[in-house]
Amino acid sequence: MDMNKNRVGLGTFPLADVFSHISKDGAKDIVRQFIDKGGYYIDTAPMYGFGEVETLIGEALHTYPRESYYIATKCGYIDVEGKSFQTIQKSGKYDDVIRECERSLKRLNIDYIDLYFMHSPDPQTPIEETMRALIKLQTEGKIREIGTSNVNLFELKEYNQSGKISFIQNRFSLLNRSIEPELEEYMMEHAIKLVPYQVIDRGQLTGKVFEGIENLREGDLRTGRSDWLPEKVDVIADWVKLSLSPIAKRLGITLGQLSIAWALHQKYMGFVIVGNTNPAYTEINLKANDVKLDASTLLEIDNAYKSLETQVREKYGQSIREFRGLNEKYF
Ligand SMILES: NC(=O)c1ccc[n+]([C@@H]2O[C@H](COP(=O)([O-])OP(=O)(O)OC[C@H]3O[C@@H](n4cnc5c(N)ncnc54)[C@H](OP(=O)(O)O)[C@@H]3O)[C@@H](O)[C@H]2O)c1
Repeated sequence: MDMNKNRVGLGTFPLADVFSHISKDGAKDIVRQFIDKGGYYIDTAPMYGFGEVETLIGEALHTYPRESYYIATKCGYIDVEGKSFQTIQKSGKYDDVIRECERSLKRLNIDYIDLYFMHSPDPQTPIEETMRALIKLQTEGKIREIGTSNVNLFELKEYNQSGKISFIQNRFSLLNRSIEPELEEYMMEHAIKLVPYQVIDRGQLTGKVFEGIENLREGDLRTGRSDWLPEKVDVIADWVKLSLSPIAKRLGITLGQLSIAWALHQKYMGFVIVGNTNPAYTEINLKANDVKLDASTLLEIDNAYKSLETQVREKYGQSIREFRGLNEKYF
């Protein structure tokens, strides 16, 4: 990766029309606008819109020079087209990985993928077999770097022992401190960077958290998620208002920019990926790349997090992650 590029990447899951409504043309506009305004890193997956999001990215960028954008996509689910979240099938088998990579290249209309993630481990297939396929693709120049997503330390070690893992993609934010010290140590030792997802917690670390969940449209995938239940969102919204808003205000930045910038200041960070359906947010999110947080501000954010931890522990007898119902794999 190129650390000199803007490290606020575009997450493209919301372009599958899963959160606020977005049309296919609107989605293509978001992708082009992102690059036009100085963005570079784009994260996608066959699972997003079951092939449709990769296709619309390919259509949006077909006139752009290939070196003007960076594509991270994923393997691990097969025959996605026409499927649903209920019917989609996981596989890390050698032949499936090779075939799905060809399909992604075709949909994206490119001849190499910059970073190829295994979306999440396939318990039915030895990790070594998946890695063999990924290394073959890398040797052939179809993918440049290998990553793995939704992994714990044990799984990461297994992937990395069968080849070179450059990045992991796990859910992580200033509200979801999911990188345990042992994982961090291993990543630092092996030069593995994090590409975190949900760094703004799907709007809970932006002004959106104050809108309340009743404003989510019918069909918004956030509805009913364990971390979007009204009583959970209320606790987070109060904390954001009392603890994070004053910091953002003082620095003259938005809450979202504070959360993105905080992530970018972590030493194991590669680039971050922020989903977006609103053209008005593109520039705001990209500008977070230039926000500098000094040591005392980072400490203030850590202290605010610790006070939320104490408050949740005292009131509910749980950690913040337990309270928000996040499982071992951080979904
Ligand atoms: N590896 C995996 O298993 C995995 C899992 C999930 C996601 N991902 C990747 O990670 C990316 C990021 O995750 P995500 O998109 O799920 O969540 P996210 O980036 O935390 O949140 C995206 C949502 O936040 C809201 N938002 C964005 N910018 C905002 C701003 N400036 N102010 C207010 N609200 C703002 C938008 O909601 P509205 O649409 O309502 O405006 C947007 O759709 C995904 O797009 C995908 O590429 C990977």
